[in-house]
Amino acid sequence: MKASPSPAIMLSAQQQPRSGAAIRLAFLDFYTARGHRLLPSASLVPDDPTVLLTIAGMLPFKTVFLGQKPRPAQRATSAQKCIRTNDIENVGRTARHHTFFEMLGNFSFGDYFKEQAICWAWELSTEVFGLDPRHLVVSVFHEDREATSIWTETVGVAPHRIVPMGAADNFWSAGPTGPCGPCSELYYDLQPEKGDEAINLEDDERFIEFYNLVFMESNRNADGVLTPLANKNIDTGMGLERMARILQGKPNNYETDLIYPLMAAVARRSPLEDYLAASTDQQTSLKIIADHSRAVTHLIADGVTSSNLGRGYVLRRLIRRAVRHGYLIGIREPFLESLVDVVVKVTGSAYPQLQQRETAIKRELKQEELRFRDTLERGEKRLGEILTTQPERISGSQAFELYDTHGFPLELTVEIAQEHGLGVDQEGFAAAMEIQRQQARAAAVNVDLTRGGVAEGLAAKLGATPFSGYQQLNDESEVVALIVNGEAAQQALQGDAVQVGLSRTCFYGESGGQVGDRGVVLGATTAGQPMEMIVEDVQKVDGFVLHKGRLVSGVLHLGQVVVTRVDHFCRRRAQIHHTATHLLHEALKRVVDPAICQAGSLVDFNRLRFDFNCPRSVAASEMEQMESLINGWILEAYSLEVSQMPMAEAKARGAVAMFGEKYGDVVRVVNVPGVSMELCGGIHVNNTAEIGVVRLVAESGVAAGIRRIEAVAGPAALAYIKPRDQACRELGERFKAQPTEIVARVEALQAELKHTSKALAASREALALAKAKALVDQAQSNGAFQLLVQRLDGVEPAALQTAGQALVDQLGPGAVVVLAGESSPGKVSLVAGFGPQVVARGLKAGAVIGALAKGCGGGGGGRPHLAQAGGRQPENIDAVLEAGQAQLVRALSQSPPPEPQRRRRKSTRKTSSAG
Ligand code: ALA
Repeated sequence: MKASPSPAIMLSAQQQPRSGAAIRLAFLDFYTARGHRLLPSASLVPDDPTVLLTIAGMLPFKTVFLGQKPRPAQRATSAQKCIRTNDIENVGRTARHHTFFEMLGNFSFGDYFKEQAICWAWELSTEVFGLDPRHLVVSVFHEDREATSIWTETVGVAPHRIVPMGAADNFWSAGPTGPCGPCSELYYDLQPEKGDEAINLEDDERFIEFYNLVFMESNRNADGVLTPLANKNIDTGMGLERMARILQGKPNNYETDLIYPLMAAVARRSPLEDYLAASTDQQTSLKIIADHSRAVTHLIADGVTSSNLGRGYVLRRLIRRAVRHGYLIGIREPFLESLVDVVVKVTGSAYPQLQQRETAIKRELKQEELRFRDTLERGEKRLGEILTTQPERISGSQAFELYDTHGFPLELTVEIAQEHGLGVDQEGFAAAMEIQRQQARAAAVNVDLTRGGVAEGLAAKLGATPFSGYQQLNDESEVVALIVNGEAAQQALQGDAVQVGLSRTCFYGESGGQVGDRGVVLGATTAGQPMEMIVEDVQKVDGFVLHKGRLVSGVLHLGQVVVTRVDHFCRRRAQIHHTATHLLHEALKRVVDPAICQAGSLVDFNRLRFDFNCPRSVAASEMEQMESLINGWILEAYSLEVSQMPMAEAKARGAVAMFGEKYGDVVRVVNVPGVSMELCGGIHVNNTAEIGVVRLVAESGVAAGIRRIEAVAGPAALAYIKPRDQACRELGERFKAQPTEIVARVEALQAELKHTSKALAASREALALAKAKALVDQAQSNGAFQLLVQRLDGVEPAALQTAGQALVDQLGPGAVVVLAGESSPGKVSLVAGFGPQVVARGLKAGAVIGALAKGCGGGGGGRPHLAQAGGRQPENIDAVLEAGQAQLVRALSQSPPPEPQRRRRKSTRKTSSAG
């Protein structure tokens, strides 16, 4: 525990890390060797709705310090990419300010505390990094006597090299609320020759703070009240660029190997050619471009895209600043994209996702740069026009017009005016700016709906909506966009159909197959009417969330502060189906084919639908097996683990990703431990037991090689089962059978019915034939023809046809048989059968029966010698037969007589069998 007494053992120059990469490694190795778990850098986009960007190594552990999440290990170490924009004006102008930087950290989650943290920090600084202890100074929080005594007594630092500081400097927190504690910082003295008497840590020419040790022991609430955390923790941060500056002996962080290659690359693309040959202002521009290019590359790698809100705006602003400074040093061609390669080269080894996302990063940078260059060119043209009027100076309103209408930055106006020997009325510019600001505050967001769809327009204008709904179902928010009955509006009244954009939301917008949340948006009372909007659908486009619904009470207006409340019952049903979907996906892999992957999915409140690639249908036995497997997992009551991790880590752990889906480099992983692990942004149950039960209800094909399974879970499964159960019970009562016996009973009944029907058909046919036989005598001879036109009721069409054929056979080649009757109530059946001689005379049974059927309100036809038809007007049967008979008689008498050799009566099998 006791640190080595100073002076520490000095390392030889070869042993000391010098490059940025070596320093990063040495730090992580030092703490890994001391039992710290090495964790990858978290995304710059934090999983924390209260902060825009990751500003410190501790940010991913905020909830761990607060005891809200389990600790990832007792000790951890990481190199965390960070972005801070609060000091953006200082970037490039001081030796040490950056937007993007890397923070090396060691963390203790309720494990070691102050003394160990201090001793290791000292050992690392002096023995690994080889800093001369005589050049180190430390600061402590003035009330922290314990830290002071550890530094003096345990480490052996001389008391005059320990500087007490106030809360403003040495009490650290990541924001106005949250975990915090006193801290102690390590400073390196760049000018030790100035002596120990004049130690002033504010002098940043002389002293550089490189390591901050925070003793996280309190939580600060919104009122500023501190309460002790359950654990005493350690949070530290070493600025990688600062340590590189010290060890590389550079005058500023920018000239270290972490950033210099970027400045050199930019200088080479500009008329300056060389960083060292540039003026101070030009060097500042090079530094700004280098800094911003690192920031924007990493931001885009983490999935941020340019917009006018939140992170998207940070990105846009950084890109524009970089382009503008490129413009200032004479770069006229797009260049940001080319710096990505350099960023990847310098930091890529530590952040492999940069390489993976290189193409996307370059595309986004190029698009945004071209957009802004357009602006610059238009502004320059306009400025050229102003200059041709040979003004004495550029007026405030002209400079403001350039800025406001053309987006042309003031400093460029000043620069170009200067080249023409002119000044710019900057006060006039500031005044115009102020007026505009006031107007802007008064005006609400006015959306340009003419460009593309409503949601797309809003998304482009307002950017992604921060989502708080993973943690909470109620939130407070502000109306930032309002569409009433399809039109952008300032306010909505009771009864209006509205679509609302909010500054943040706890409503899940439809995505990843999961339906949007339902709920209400509530607001202040106007004229006695409280504002209430029923949210009926929530859509998400490019991260922008649009709440659709009806205003059932009060007035809703832009800028209004509202309370958002998600219907927890609906949410829960969606969660249940979402986790059930993951279980089904896994069950398919295990039971049907490990190569199965998702081809589409719907997660609704009442059901789920899962499409997947599979060349064959899933067998009923497999469905059953999967259902048992899934319900087994439910019964096992697995607690889900949801975490963010770099894509590479998620892949290494075997998380399932959707083919063709776009993911950022840091992904959200939903893990049912030991069962399923998927990349997913959706909302899940906390424990599989909450699902209750899953029923797989259907399997079908939707396209070539794509199958679909539909399932119900939780309350929806009960709702599905209930009416079926009821029907089963009723059948059981009717059949006096147990549910399990019903199928056998139905099968027996079906067999019986089939048998009875067959017997019935046979006896009908026999009856028809008997009736037909009785009719033979009714045939009238007409020359060589035997004409029989008869009504025969109660005979089925098939039997009627058999009867018709039997009569023809009996009456011989000159037979003309027409039978019609009411086969069953309301139905007419007709048959015509002609012997061969009749057909030879050109009479066709099909034509004759068609005409007769028409008379009975129907139709039909068939071959010349036998045809059948049906109709729906039994009341016409007699008339039709009468008319038919007359026509046939006429037709037969007009026909030439049949050939003598064909007059012979033909004896056929049919006749005998019919007889
Ligand atoms: N969280 C501390 C800082 O950022 C270490 O300085």
